[in-house]
Amino acid sequence: MPRLLFLAILAVQIGRARAAEPSQVRLPTAQYVGASGCQSSSCHGGAGEKRSQYITWARHDIHTRGYASLTNARADRIAEALGIPARPDGLPAATASTRCTVCHSPFHAIPQAQRLPAADPTESISCESCHGPAGGWLRGHTRPDWTYATRVGAGMRDLKSFYVRANTCVACHQNVDSDIIAAGHPELLFELDGQSTAQPKHWRDPEESGPRAWLTGQAVALRELSWRLAMNPSADAKTLAHWNALVWLLSHVTAAEGHLVTIAEPGRAPHDQQFARVQQQADALARRAAHTEFPRDFAPRMLVRLAALDGEFAPATGTPREILFRRAQRLVLAIERLTMANLPPAQRNLPASGLSTMREDLRSEAAFDPAHFASLLGKFRLSLGEAAP
Ligand code: HEC
Ligand code: HEC
Ligand code: HEC
Repeated sequence: MPRLLFLAILAVQIGRARAAEPSQVRLPTAQYVGASGCQSSSCHGGAGEKRSQYITWARHDIHTRGYASLTNARADRIAEALGIPARPDGLPAATASTRCTVCHSPFHAIPQAQRLPAADPTESISCESCHGPAGGWLRGHTRPDWTYATRVGAGMRDLKSFYVRANTCVACHQNVDSDIIAAGHPELLFELDGQSTAQPKHWRDPEESGPRAWLTGQAVALRELSWRLAMNPSADAKTLAHWNALVWLLSHVTAAEGHLVTIAEPGRAPHDQQFARVQQQADALARRAAHTEFPRDFAPRMLVRLAALDGEFAPATGTPREILFRRAQRLVLAIERLTMANLPPAQRNLPASGLSTMREDLRSEAAFDPAHFASLLGKFRLSLGEAAP
């Protein structure tokens, strides 16, 4: 047999074997086992960086508070305003409503047949809420012959991909029904890079991946808002303002970056014709950004571009204040993350002092003063060493 042909056949056979491998190890139903299944000290509950994920989560991760938040006074007020019925056993109403538990205590929203008794709703947002149900891979994933691809094939979520990761977090961190917000729930604003740091991380990302995480996250946030508006084009003004702000930011970010998918600012066409189009563009941008190695000069270059947007907050532009407020929110998040990326790694955990005044301007929409914000942005631009026009 000619050597090349032999190699080609061999390659096809290896490819087949690889593709078949995961189906041999997957269980028929993806069952949730609960965090106790990951806790042992020889697994993820031990000392040392490689084995301490459980401890980081249990002691420091904000996600362990999800269930408890449904039992506080604010949750009671929200539940009452929404007419969520009281529980016969006297426990707080919100803990039994899937309107709340899908995000705060996900095991409650999963049918009992799909989870072991140890997977208890009071566990809040735990390992499998992000990594996927472990039934199909818990036993196998420590086998030395299992590669990362085998694990993913067996149902473990590929969170090393920033696209898959952003999709996982955004599912609970951007869209929440307007009536829940109106009932007093905090507003949600998704930003992958900073929120991963705040979680805090129980893993290590490549050193220069900050801009990649930030941009992938903003693009999936825009996709989710577009999807929601496409389903319901007459949505409330607040959701529209959030959407407008992200379109504005990402159109400025992508305008001069030829390697990225461009987000086009909506022209004069009615909004409802734009949502589905922007949804597609934003998803394409997220996929592209997630697999882009941004060069070191991306952050400083983008900072200069974004800091030059101060003119857009001047009174003469006639843009409604509600929209300017949302734009300023997204802009400051961007400036924060790009400023961090611009620092040496050892300094990235310190608060970025120069930005705190800008953040203060965004404490409430009612108190937001666009002219004041524009002047802060102008000062920031000068601090970057750019001459005023
Ligand atoms: C199953 C839903 C769910 C998923 C998935 C999820 N979160 Fe959360 N997250 C929550 C809830 C609910 C809270 C609020 C917890 C509380 O009650 O205080 C929260 C709070 C947070 C907070 C603190 C509040 C804030 O918004 O700053 C951060 C940071 C955070 N999550 C980051 C992340 C990141 C990063 C990911 C993805 C790797 C992620 N979350 C995935 C539900 C989720
Ligand atoms: C789409 C996911 C999602 C849904 C649905 C949701 N929440 Fe939340 N909730 C969050 C996130 C994320 C936070 C953290 C926000 C932050 O801190 O910026 C949060 C925060 C809260 C807080 C403030 C936590 C604190 O520190 O006191 C309360 C209370 C709360 N939620 C109650 C509810 C109730 C009650 C419901 C159901 C009516 C509900 N949530 C539905 C995601 C959700
Ligand atoms: C809010 C989402 C979220 C929760 C909850 C969560 N993880 Fe993770 N985890 C991630 C992300 C994102 C990564 C980074 C992707 C990667 O490295 O595979 C990660 C990475 C890991 C890694 C790989 C670490 C490394 O350095 O390579 C392990 C192991 C892990 N998680 C275990 C756990 C365990 C055990 C729990 C529960 C005690 C848990 N995770 C809870 C999101 C989460």
